[in-house]
Amino acid sequence: MNIIVAVDEHFGIGNLGKIQWKIKEDMDFFRRSTLNKTVIMGRKTLDSFKCGKPLKNRHNIVLTRDKCFKRENVTVVHSVKQALEKISDIDTGDVYIIGGQSIYEAFLPYCDKAFVTKVHGVFDADTYFPDLDKSDEWKLIHQSDRQITQSGIHITFCEYERVRHE
Ligand SMILES: NC(=O)c1ccc[n+]([C@@H]2O[C@H](COP(=O)([O-])OP(=O)(O)OC[C@H]3O[C@@H](n4cnc5c(N)ncnc54)[C@H](OP(=O)(O)O)[C@@H]3O)[C@@H](O)[C@H]2O)c1
Repeated sequence: MNIIVAVDEHFGIGNLGKIQWKIKEDMDFFRRSTLNKTVIMGRKTLDSFKCGKPLKNRHNIVLTRDKCFKRENVTVVHSVKQALEKISDIDTGDVYIIGGQSIYEAFLPYCDKAFVTKVHGVFDADTYFPDLDKSDEWKLIHQSDRQITQSGIHITFCEYERVRHE
């Protein structure tokens, strides 16, 4: 299973229910990576999308503890276990955990790849992603050159893999 996330220099990922930046190049990367795949997210992340609508051309699985929750074109689940059951017949390489903080934390142990866009700068944040560089369970396997985006913000695309202990 994959994780895909954009973090600032303090590993902030969101503030007041939204992502703090708008970076077209990262949005394009996210879209390319997840298109026609299964995406798993928390209810707050779904609500952060335009009109609270799920992502087009992807199978959207949303976690909520609200047993009455319904949203068009969304598969609703109420626990991590239920989400894992829903994807049990899908190739795990085609599943992307797309946030927010609570969902990244809950699914990180089940993931073996992480696509982390590093946004150079520090933004106000109330939600965070763990620093994989400090974890001995993850190793950086690829890093793009630092690039300047259309919005003037510098970013680096990083790819991490879970360390396999023989
Ligand atoms: N930078 C990035 O790449 C990125 C990506 C995605 C999101 N974000 C940001 O992250 C922030 C949201 O993160 P967040 O942690 O506050 O919210 P979240 O993870 O998106 O959603 C939290 C909600 O998910 C449900 N939930 C969580 N764990 C559950 C479990 N074990 N079982 C059942 N339901 C569960 C609950 O929904 P109910 O309250 O309905 O019960 C909970 O309130 C936003 O600012 C968003 O913009 C950033």
